[in-house]
Amino acid sequence: MLKLDLHDIQGLIARGYRTLPYARFTIFATHDAAAAHALLSWLLPRVTRAGRFAGDSALHLAYTAAGLRRLGLPESVIAGFSAQFIEGMTGPSRSRFLGDVGESDPHYWTWGGPQEPPVEGLILLYANSPEVLDARQAELAASLDGLAIRQVTALDTLELGNNEPFGFHDGISQPIIQGLPKASGAPPAGTPGGRVVPAGEFVLGYPNAYGQLTSRPLVPAEDDPRRLLPRDPAGSGAADLGRNGCYLVLRQLEQDVDAFWSYARQAAAQRDGSADNGSAVALAAKMVGRWPSGAPLVKTPDRDNPRLGDDNDFGYYRTDPLGLACPLGAHIRRMNPRDSLDPQPGTEASLAVNDGHRLLRRGRGYGPGDGTPTAAGNDNHAERLVRADVAPRHATGLHFICLVASLIRQFEFVQHTWLNNPTFHGLYDDTDPLIGSRDPRGATFTVPALPVRRRYRDLPQFVRTRGGAYFFLPGISALRYLDQLPADARSASFSSSATR
Ligand code: HEM
Repeated sequence: MLKLDLHDIQGLIARGYRTLPYARFTIFATHDAAAAHALLSWLLPRVTRAGRFAGDSALHLAYTAAGLRRLGLPESVIAGFSAQFIEGMTGPSRSRFLGDVGESDPHYWTWGGPQEPPVEGLILLYANSPEVLDARQAELAASLDGLAIRQVTALDTLELGNNEPFGFHDGISQPIIQGLPKASGAPPAGTPGGRVVPAGEFVLGYPNAYGQLTSRPLVPAEDDPRRLLPRDPAGSGAADLGRNGCYLVLRQLEQDVDAFWSYARQAAAQRDGSADNGSAVALAAKMVGRWPSGAPLVKTPDRDNPRLGDDNDFGYYRTDPLGLACPLGAHIRRMNPRDSLDPQPGTEASLAVNDGHRLLRRGRGYGPGDGTPTAAGNDNHAERLVRADVAPRHATGLHFICLVASLIRQFEFVQHTWLNNPTFHGLYDDTDPLIGSRDPRGATFTVPALPVRRRYRDLPQFVRTRGGAYFFLPGISALRYLDQLPADARSASFSSSATR
């Protein structure tokens, strides 16, 4: 097994920064290559690595294809990145594929859309207090001052707590990455929850779930004479620009908290013939697949049990094959079907197929929330939100971030084939009840029950995409390599690039 080079990997892959609950994401573009290089040179020594961490703040840096071009990376090398990254999130036919249609159409986005200024890069800043965050942001702003750099947008985030804006405990289930410290104490193979996934699913240049190296950009060795880059572990001799990096998906997902809870209240009242907040919460939990505390429905189908709030040790096939506890189309069951997949549900083979479609989530909420901080342990958040009078009046949502080695096999597959697929798991006109796009084929939520299932119809769109882009989060060596590129580099100055 290859050992992970924690000194070269950006820290965001290794940790979600629970100890740094304040964050601001700056999306930038530059007017010229000199400015892009000046910014990179200033940021480079400040980028946080994946090794041991005990700081009061952290900084990460990622680029779009346009940003890499601006730094002078030639087309021959850029061609080694995945087609989805090169085309971008709003590239031809991507919007339909990702479900960014109707009100989520990129034409309505506030950043990253075709009518918005092009995005070149993303700076992610994390801190342990608002004061430290402001101080780091001020240093950054001062460094940008005088450079030909345009801040496309600054995305503020909510203080990190347990709950996302609909009021549910989030951030419970994550893949455990082989080679990182957490993996050593992980449950044994065959356990559907807390599964250890090969590092190559999230870090390029290491074996993935298929025992292969995911395709990534390589540079001919002669174009890296100072040997800044690691060499291709497959032995081609090329310099590995992708190694220790990964793709970063950022999507601004606006949540209509009022519409969500109004629907849950009305649909539950219509069903029961009387209004009761408890049944509205129970219906909302069916949509998520967990109760507001985080307790999984497969373990406690009838009532919330906060003691199970962090429980991630479950599968679906043996305990709930028909979806009587956790509906087949619930958000978490779509996003991670665990042991439900063909060729043989309930077996190691099923879990292994699932390993190829995991996402490492690093999102943060934004907006006013419900006016109370989403402090850790605040598990009655949803019970308050279900009351009509406390829904937030301002835009609120999730700056969804996920890290993957393959955009198409991981993020785009999950988004298209599971999240927005009306025929997922034998259903026929449902999409993800919580966040799915509501095209005419999919506005129903099916809750399996005996003797007959119940179908909730005409679900409004609770979540809309408001911005987004695909980035590459390079390893530190790759950042160093990009930093020394001649600002006016042209493809001609590089030999033809080897890519895999
Ligand atoms: C505003 C949008 C979203 C909301 C409110 C939301 C909410 C939630 C909640 C409450 C959970 C349960 C907590 C947990 O298991 O960690 C969850 C889990 C999850 N979500 Fe989302 N989510 C959103 C968007 C997305 C998107 C866009 C994706 C992927 C394309 C996604 C993928 C996942 C995954 C992979 C899990 C873990 C499932 C598991 O392993 O059991 N989510 N989400």
